[in-house]
Amino acid sequence: MQHNLNYHGPHCPFLLSADFANLERDTQMINTSNADWFHVDVMDGMFVPNISFGFPVIKAVKKHCKKPLDVHLMIVDPDRYIQQFRDAGADYISVHLEACPHLHRTLQLIKSTGAKAGVAINPHTPVSLLRDVLHDIDLVCMMSVNPGFGGQKFIEHTYSKVSELREMIDEKNTGTLIEIDGGVDLKNAGKLIAAGADVLVAGNTVFHLKIPLLPSNN
Ligand code: DX5
Ligand code: ZN
Repeated sequence: MQHNLNYHGPHCPFLLSADFANLERDTQMINTSNADWFHVDVMDGMFVPNISFGFPVIKAVKKHCKKPLDVHLMIVDPDRYIQQFRDAGADYISVHLEACPHLHRTLQLIKSTGAKAGVAINPHTPVSLLRDVLHDIDLVCMMSVNPGFGGQKFIEHTYSKVSELREMIDEKNTGTLIEIDGGVDLKNAGKLIAAGADVLVAGNTVFHLKIPLLPSNN
């Protein structure tokens, strides 16, 4: 099974610890690292108590990055902007289940743009709520912190949620990827992979702890 270590794009420690005027330089640094995707956190100050950035920054990153953009929408009523995020360069578009009263229709909308469809769930949201749309989901972004900020403490009950989701995906054979987002570090990464995770989002661990981004061997 392929395990991607998915470093952050802007918004979080990446943006905070990098010189914003040198986005291209830092994007190149990730391009030459062994990270597989760019995780891009979009926050609207409504769904979460923080505001990050919008289309211009994503377009700027897209211009320079050579890896898929995994765009995590922490916004209310995401249907309004799906096409615009696709046009800005999103390869994966993850919406929060908690923000989508018509999730099935939203997933169809994402797929109609050609992007991969992701669903993010907050720490309080049971995995079972995904059961009836799992076959339409390419990626589940499982929040292991409460969304809105980087550098938070990992929530331990995530391990059991990963195992439960892994079982559901294997039972339904949907091939859905499990992404863990928030508080991922060198202590919990191995346990998360062992529990069934496929993609690990790393912000603080990589950028504030200055874990060297090993050049990719490709
Ligand atoms: C939180 C974001 C996460 C977070 C991860 O709302 O979705 O991507 O920034 O940052 P770290 O890895 O520092 O917890
Ligand atoms: Zn995120």
